[in-house]
Amino acid sequence: MRDNILRRGRFSKTPEEKVMKYTTSLDYDKEIFESDILCSIAHTKMLIERGIIPEEEGKKIIEELKKILEEGIEALDLDPSLEDIHMVIERELIGRLGEDVAGKMHTGRSRNDQVATDIRIALREKVLLILKKLIDLEKTLLSLAEYHRETLFVGYTHLQHAQPTTYGHHLLSYVSMLERDIQRLLEGYKRINISPLGCGAMATTGFNIDRERTMELLGFEGLIENSMDGVSTRDFILETMAALSILGTNLSKICEELILFSTYEFRVVELSDVYTSTSSIMPQKKNPDVAEIARAKLSTLNGNLITVLTILKALPNTYNRDLQEVTPYLWQSVYTVLDTLDMIEGMIKTLKINMERMRELVGSNYSTATELADTLVRECNISFRSAHGIVGEAVRRAIEEGKDLADVIEEILERYNLKLEREKIERALDPMENVKVRKVIGGPAPEEVRRAIRSFYTRVEDYEKDVENKLKKIKDVKKRLLE
Ligand code: ARG
Repeated sequence: MRDNILRRGRFSKTPEEKVMKYTTSLDYDKEIFESDILCSIAHTKMLIERGIIPEEEGKKIIEELKKILEEGIEALDLDPSLEDIHMVIERELIGRLGEDVAGKMHTGRSRNDQVATDIRIALREKVLLILKKLIDLEKTLLSLAEYHRETLFVGYTHLQHAQPTTYGHHLLSYVSMLERDIQRLLEGYKRINISPLGCGAMATTGFNIDRERTMELLGFEGLIENSMDGVSTRDFILETMAALSILGTNLSKICEELILFSTYEFRVVELSDVYTSTSSIMPQKKNPDVAEIARAKLSTLNGNLITVLTILKALPNTYNRDLQEVTPYLWQSVYTVLDTLDMIEGMIKTLKINMERMRELVGSNYSTATELADTLVRECNISFRSAHGIVGEAVRRAIEEGKDLADVIEEILERYNLKLEREKIERALDPMENVKVRKVIGGPAPEEVRRAIRSFYTRVEDYEKDVENKLKKIKDVKKRLLE
């Protein structure tokens, strides 16, 4: 008890081991080990600069902190009766430098502002890693889309054949949704990268500390000024986890389509052996296990988000130990997304595309009927609703008689006293012609897809530069603090 730097003053009893094990955060504090040391170095530097602690002693603290970081968390005695990494590091420091020196590090600071700062430092880097992988995936999809600009494929609504498109256009829909995920994470980054350090336990401190100095030393872009909010809020975590949930929803859709499109019934893509498994009894099987596992793992993001929302709702101001239970869910979601992005990138890079089968699907099942109706509007001067009825009737007849639309439409048109040249009918029913005329912004026409790809590339390059700059800034901050 005497050597427990946290409890020795106020308490005369140590809790049972199982109580300490139940309440410690040490099991997952490895995630904030490095950021905690960075945070302490910045705080100590500022204390020296402000003349709050003697320079000689402050320098010793900083030197020793660097050594502890170098030796790694494994070298520390992770004693659960010290509760968390903050106390473990401080006790280690006291063991090395003596309490008269090391005991000064925590001047004007609380674990409450400390942990909030640590989480933000650790999280911002993880978000940038996610962004990097997302940007790589965007680029992979864009180059595949470029290659398949003219690869005809059928588009689905209600999972029924709808209209002709290209596989390139289909892939661009993935690019488009993932771009918003990039934007959401970049937007949220602004609210992660602000400093609560100096908020103290909840009311700042009477020492003349310099919050803007530690903010700058740690590479934060601003302050959370209000000290009660600073130690209390975890809404930056909620925002990140919500963005990850939405990203997960989008990634899950990609997985679902890989699974569906690789079935015998669709047969338009084939996953590489590397991303599939077989059956222990049915020798012919090729199962899309990686995509299925990804689809399931992504569901846990939603559960984690709800868990954290529920922990945080109705907590009173300011710090409550409940907050400690939030971060494990955050890290779990972060790692799930990082790992899943690797899997999806790999699956797409090694995907075999069956262009003949795509051509076969788009050429059957009347996906060009809309264009035939549109042609009637243009050529025969009738309303779209009338044209819709006439072509619908033709489709019904064609199905009943097992024929193509081209074989039944002329006779039906005659009955309505309408004339359409054979060549125009054929053009309307040609899938490539369908795609070519849909050159409106966002449409599947190869020239429009090319334009869209170029504009996506320009923006992706901007995001990439932004992320690189942010990563570089963080690297420089670490270098400067650890020099
Ligand atoms: N392990 C704690 C957490 O993760 C650190 C802050 C402890 N603060 C306190 N007042 N007990 O939240």
